[in-house]
Amino acid sequence: MLLCVKSMASEGPLVLGIESTCDETGVALVRDGVLLADVTATSMDQHVRFGGVIPEIASRAHLQSFPSTLQAALDKAEVELGDVDAIACAAGPGLVGSLTVGITAAKGLAAALDVPLYGVNHVLGHLAVDMFEDGPLPERFIGLVVSGGHSNLLLVEDLATDVTELGGTLDDAAGEAFDKVGRLLGLPYPGGPHLDRLAAGADRPFELRFPRGLAAGKDKERYRYDFSFSGLKTAVSRHLRENPEAPSAEVAAAFSDSINDSLTAKAVRAALDQECETIVVGGGFAANSRLRELLGERAARAGLRVRIPPMRYCTDNGAQIAALGSLLVRAGLPPSPPDFGPDSGMELSQSYMAPIEAAAD
Ligand code: KG4
Ligand code: ZN
Repeated sequence: MLLCVKSMASEGPLVLGIESTCDETGVALVRDGVLLADVTATSMDQHVRFGGVIPEIASRAHLQSFPSTLQAALDKAEVELGDVDAIACAAGPGLVGSLTVGITAAKGLAAALDVPLYGVNHVLGHLAVDMFEDGPLPERFIGLVVSGGHSNLLLVEDLATDVTELGGTLDDAAGEAFDKVGRLLGLPYPGGPHLDRLAAGADRPFELRFPRGLAAGKDKERYRYDFSFSGLKTAVSRHLRENPEAPSAEVAAAFSDSINDSLTAKAVRAALDQECETIVVGGGFAANSRLRELLGERAARAGLRVRIPPMRYCTDNGAQIAALGSLLVRAGLPPSPPDFGPDSGMELSQSYMAPIEAAAD
């Protein structure tokens, strides 16, 4: 049986994925939709005392960690560097210095191995990675990308070739809002997971209710698929100032309810409007327990399917880059041009750094 799996696995191209958008150095290997290895090194412990990621420290850490992370991934997959058929690296969005380290390494490897290189969209990778858990992605779906930098709703006809941005946050991203309110509540950085755990311990039901951004009035239609979380952050800050004795678990839960109510209501709305049967969720915030619970309930009521990758694939990793890279390879798309560089604000409708003539088609 093992022999059979191995011989099947050797049929398709071996794709190496390299992630370096922020503080995680990730390297993964994928063949025929099977994840052979996914190794991550993080510099988070070097940023904690600053209360945020320091770009220069992150870049230097990528430089230091990359060789050993690559070797560990090759060892785990039991392949040689020379077996690699194509390389994908994150080209954006992310920190320019961090991206540059990963792209430079990828360009060097691609030149030495004489294999095609794809500079891919990190955010779309957060959706692509679900293929390792739930199998090939559906033909058409709504993507909800929620991370420290993004909160977006996408209409995905094909992750490799056809992605439309329906809406996004006008100010803070969901994870960013959690990190900021985590700080207000005195939680360690990054506050997201801590705040999630604190909120899960609240006694329900409770009366406290914070406003939902862009949910009412004339803004409701105009911003049908958009989010706004900065007013909510101000409301929590005011509440804490006026009620210094307020139970923090309840404040955390009411805050989490507000964010997740908006995210889930609009994701379900988008799926119904666009006649999609499936919502795929990705990004660090997809680890949020309330999001998983509420989206599961609401989608089930609306007859929709929800796909959320397991926790280990929610935070940044090489698997997401290899996953998207393998879709581009399978679609037969031309590799990125040799002169592509990092794009910190890469559009979500752009799956990768396509050559000009391909992009114009
Ligand atoms: O996707 P990601 O690893 O990095 C970015 O590309 O931003 O997301 C990190 C974000 C952080 O803001 C972190 O606090 C948040 O995801 N996060 C969470 C949870 N786990 C991670 N936020 C809320 N609840 C969680 N369980
Ligand atoms: Zn990310």
